[in-house]
Amino acid sequence: MSSPIIVALDLERDAAIKLSSRLDPNLCKLKVGNELFTSSGPQVVLDLKSKGFDIFLDLKFHDIPNTVASAVREACELGVWMVNVHASGGSKMMASAADTILDYESKPILIGVTVLTSIGEDEASSLGINHIESHTLSLAKLAKQSGLDGIVCSPQEVKKIKEDCGNDFIAVTPGIRPSNTEDDQTRISTPKQAIANGSDYLVIGRPITRSADPLASLKSILNEIT
Ligand code: C5P
Repeated sequence: MSSPIIVALDLERDAAIKLSSRLDPNLCKLKVGNELFTSSGPQVVLDLKSKGFDIFLDLKFHDIPNTVASAVREACELGVWMVNVHASGGSKMMASAADTILDYESKPILIGVTVLTSIGEDEASSLGINHIESHTLSLAKLAKQSGLDGIVCSPQEVKKIKEDCGNDFIAVTPGIRPSNTEDDQTRISTPKQAIANGSDYLVIGRPITRSADPLASLKSILNEIT
């Protein structure tokens, strides 16, 4: 079985490469996000791929359709396994990203970011979002209609999304925390609960990357969920 865990390498290049050497491509995929990509550029994606890892390029593209389609094309050229755009960029933007991917034989999974898992009800209302769950659900439906393969959402929202968008619509969930952790993530679940809710992939950063033994932490999370 392919591992549902995606480790978020929110680090600079040397630390990311070093950490990847302590992980196992059979037990996890890796996420290259804004910090690592901005400090290191596309070469780090190629370097991590050459170590056998599938790469989720998490740059959350959000721009006009033509610009986003071009950025997604570059991600396809890099051979990433998964790439994402902000669903709030709208259906034209998402559809142009989805069309671009059709040109490639080895197609990355295209995911739409709904509402960031760090945003709680108070912050959401300051952004004009009255109810996070229903907003997430409308963005998920829009992403599906626009040809995306799935969404990024909170583990707490997966059940409803799967009910409305179908089981094969992929749910990628950050905000995964072993119990009793407190930090900037708000809409969180334990790994076991996220899988029970129907999450297909769990994005886990600090609980693994800041652990004294990242491989042991990864294995212990895998044990908990399998
Ligand atoms: O360290 P932590 O487990 O909180 O890392 C979560 C990762 O998931 C971060 O890299 C963050 O950028 C990403 N992410 C998120 N919420 C989203 C989309 C991505 O936390 N909606």
